[in-house]
Amino acid sequence: MTKKLYIKTFGCQMNEYDTERIISAFEMMGYGMTDDPSEADFAIINTCSVREKPSEKVKSEIGRLKKYKKDNPNFKIGVAGCVAQQEGEAILDSNSYVDMVLGTDGIPRIGEVVERVENGERIAVTEFSSDNFTIPNFSRNRSVSAFVTIMKGCDNFCSYCIVPYVRGREKSRKSIEILDEVKYLVDNGVKEVTFLGQNVNSYGKNLDENINFTQFLYMATKIDGLERIRFVTSHPKDFSGELVDLISSEEKICEYLHLPLQAGSDSVLKKMNRGYSYSEYFEKVSMAKEKIKNIAISSDFIVGFPGEKDDDFLKTLDAIKEIEYETIFAFKYSPRPGTKASDIEDDVSEIVKSQRLKKLLDEQEKITSRLLKSQIGEIQEVMVEGISKKDNKVFSGRNRRNRIVNFVSSKVLKAGDIVNVKILEAKKNSLYGEKI
Ligand code: 5AD
Ligand code: SF4
Repeated sequence: MTKKLYIKTFGCQMNEYDTERIISAFEMMGYGMTDDPSEADFAIINTCSVREKPSEKVKSEIGRLKKYKKDNPNFKIGVAGCVAQQEGEAILDSNSYVDMVLGTDGIPRIGEVVERVENGERIAVTEFSSDNFTIPNFSRNRSVSAFVTIMKGCDNFCSYCIVPYVRGREKSRKSIEILDEVKYLVDNGVKEVTFLGQNVNSYGKNLDENINFTQFLYMATKIDGLERIRFVTSHPKDFSGELVDLISSEEKICEYLHLPLQAGSDSVLKKMNRGYSYSEYFEKVSMAKEKIKNIAISSDFIVGFPGEKDDDFLKTLDAIKEIEYETIFAFKYSPRPGTKASDIEDDVSEIVKSQRLKKLLDEQEKITSRLLKSQIGEIQEVMVEGISKKDNKVFSGRNRRNRIVNFVSSKVLKAGDIVNVKILEAKKNSLYGEKI
């Protein structure tokens, strides 16, 4: 009988991409996949440590999986991702039922490591930078939209952020390797790629070739059969007019920009070590909105950063109103061990953090609702991603602004088809329409 892998992914798209590579590696070893851990022979939790909660979640997740060892003594448990990278051996020491700890750079070694684990060893792999993305030929033909990592790590050292410590220094992949990967994906049915990096717009720094992010994107637009290009995450300080011009002139690049502001107050931004003031950020966003027709902008925010006063928080509220994001992701500040900010007293109480988070999200709900309603009547380009399980005339996809659009079509469509949809209704977080 084929062995089966169960994998659960937390955190960002980078982790989703790593999950895909782990799956490919297991498929090469003859494993099939399962969504049900009770059927699995190997279970992996791909972890995130960017905020406190995810790392707690991991502990409970391990607790949930350990019972399967009773029925199947060969059932193996692996912890991958950022918590694995950070805690390494310690996870093996404190959890006797964990068999494998695989840090973020350990994926290329997974074949060898899994074989040893299957033979009863317990192993932790946490060395940095052996990962040159050499796992080839992903078997990812299950989807028309794929993530592709173009750079990893971060050199920015925002004072609250653990990423530079866990994922290490910025390292870009050679453009030819990435483009080959995209071509391979396109040959296997992918129509849309999202280029990933903690800080995509510093792509190319430290590479032998002379290339920057805009030049790289331009090369990607030339790939035949690739219909849509997206990218996350852009850092405001490196966000350039050159990139805005490329987005506005290249049909394949979608009008969607995730540009995390984090806070509206200059003094908080300074303590966060973000490298820009609110007015500098606002200038860049305004330029993007002006030059790129119909662009949707999204952002991340942290509330309750040490020293954040009511006044500071009000500036964050003002910022979301002024900028009118289509979506925001907001989090309560949580000190991460080893970061600069964790040396400062975490002086905003949990209650105040929760109140600020709620206020921010409530305000954003109104903005999102207004922006979505204003799109009623528009004809939007939607790429089909799926068919409703309940009704075979209802399809689901995303518009160019990265918004989910559900729509009716009397014509049968398949994933990857790009159609025009008239928007009839705005739901809380999605749009509804009909194919024209
Ligand atoms: N506390 C709360 N939120 C954080 N983020 C990163 N580090 C922390 C932290 N220590 C948020 C930021 C970032 C997103 C991925 O997670 O908003 O953009
Ligand atoms: Fe963390 Fe800042 Fe780097 Fe983003 S840019 S990964 S928030 S250090």
